[in-house]
Amino acid sequence: MGSEPGHDAGKAAPPPAEVGALMRQAMAFHRAGMLAEAVSAAEIPARATDDYIRNLFAPFASAFDGVLAKLNYRVPGLLAALRARFPTDRPLDVADAGCGTGLCAPALRPLARRLVGVDLSPEMLEKARARGLYDALGRPS
Ligand SMILES: C[S@@+](CC[C@H](N)C(=O)[O-])C[C@H]1O[C@@H](n2cnc3c(N)ncnc32)[C@H](O)[C@@H]1O
Repeated sequence: MGSEPGHDAGKAAPPPAEVGALMRQAMAFHRAGMLAEAVSAAEIPARATDDYIRNLFAPFASAFDGVLAKLNYRVPGLLAALRARFPTDRPLDVADAGCGTGLCAPALRPLARRLVGVDLSPEMLEKARARGLYDALGRPS
């Protein structure tokens, strides 16, 4: 664990003020809508629409990895730590649903005979493709 930048489990969490600033930066990518509905009397939809997801992540894709590293995002590192529990001969077909920029791909690739990434956002998929770790990438049909 800890081979991916920003995913060192031993790293101290950033101070609350910095987390707050980063969260505000992330929220600035929101094009309102869902949040406005959540705090208003309007009926809250069961899930975010596909358009909302695409609009949210399109401008976020280029900054995503840097923001998550600063937030000490630990999922890729935790996944890598689980590797020891799986057979080493890569028998798994793995679907990375909502793969984003592919931050989890380095942890999943060693486990996978076939690694497929799916995401609604073309911009996030482009970043994931650049890693060169997936056998296939695409949008959900
Ligand atoms: C917070 S990011 C996480 C990305 C990645 N799993 C990671 O750990 O870094 C969530 C991703 O899920 C995608 N997503 C959200 N809802 C989705 C859906 N219904 N179908 C496909 N992708 C979706 C978004 O476009 C975004 O790239």
